[in-house]
Amino acid sequence: MTLIKPSKNPILSNYAADAWSADSRHDGLDSVIAAIADGAALIEEKVRAATLADAIGTSDEVNVQGEIVQYLDTAASDAFVDTLSRSGRVAAIGCEEIEGTVVVGDGPQHNYIVQMDPLDGSSNIDVAVSIGSIFGIWRREDGEAVNDASLLKPGNQQIAAAYVVYGSSTVMIVAVENSVQGFTLDPETRQFVLTHPDLRIPEKCSCYSANEGNFDKLDDSTQKAFIELRGKYSLRYVGSLVADFHRNLLKGGIFLYPGDPKSPNGKLRLMYEANPLGFIAEQAGGAAYSDSQRIMDIQPEHPHQRTPLILGNRDVVKQTIAIINKA
Ligand code: AHG
Ligand code: MN
Ligand code: MN
Repeated sequence: MTLIKPSKNPILSNYAADAWSADSRHDGLDSVIAAIADGAALIEEKVRAATLADAIGTSDEVNVQGEIVQYLDTAASDAFVDTLSRSGRVAAIGCEEIEGTVVVGDGPQHNYIVQMDPLDGSSNIDVAVSIGSIFGIWRREDGEAVNDASLLKPGNQQIAAAYVVYGSSTVMIVAVENSVQGFTLDPETRQFVLTHPDLRIPEKCSCYSANEGNFDKLDDSTQKAFIELRGKYSLRYVGSLVADFHRNLLKGGIFLYPGDPKSPNGKLRLMYEANPLGFIAEQAGGAAYSDSQRIMDIQPEHPHQRTPLILGNRDVVKQTIAIINKA
């Protein structure tokens, strides 16, 4: 991975305009990406100062997932709904923290549908461990109605995906077909600049990421897959999907959150965790599967449905799926 010299780094908006506006399927995509970047810069400030800004801790709300809502979950959801709506290019938004469809507009310029996990890794907020935001982007065809069905497009119809990881630095990864680009937030200018051009997942898998605390709940074949991985790779698990995925994208690795007999669909959500990261993994040469099929081929039935998720180095994902499916 060649990092280009800071002096020559194109900023995200210039890159987006040059790289994406040329393709008519992407007209206006640069405005959607810019809206995500603006929201991320806002959230980065809150994340950095969370404890000071009294933005840690939980509200007394419970979200559609049945999880206690952290203040930053709500702040991030509000920030991205605002910036995406004001982009003028987004027709509808699906969000982990919002049960229904956020209908923004159905004009001829509202060409995109965005599904998001505004704050991923909420349990790590109060302990200053890396967290993130995840976005899947679908096209809305001209004249297409904007309603709940807008949020039920399969992952294989995504035209872009992005995530932000608020870590030791704040990095935004943006993928369109055959292109995965990484941008780092410059704390001085508050601009995202290109630092990780043309990302590909390394050939060599270096680690596996899984919550080994769940081992005893797993069925026999999934336990066999875990044992196989233990024997070959180091375990690296942050507990924030975006942070674990980002490390694996840059260094090579596989992330697993499988189902178990009590929760056959596992914990992670199809539309705004598995689909966007599955799109990015595939565009970087990797793979993303549930326990039996390619994540992006799953026909969604509900915007908050869960799925088992195994993603990262293509060969190791395939080997792992094969073991899990051996009865
Ligand atoms: P979210 O904070 O958006 O609910 O996501 C948390 C997810 C994901 O980030 C992470 O991989 C997983 O929860 C960790 O789950 P466990 O704590 O069960 O390992
Ligand atoms: Mn999440
Ligand atoms: Mn979340």
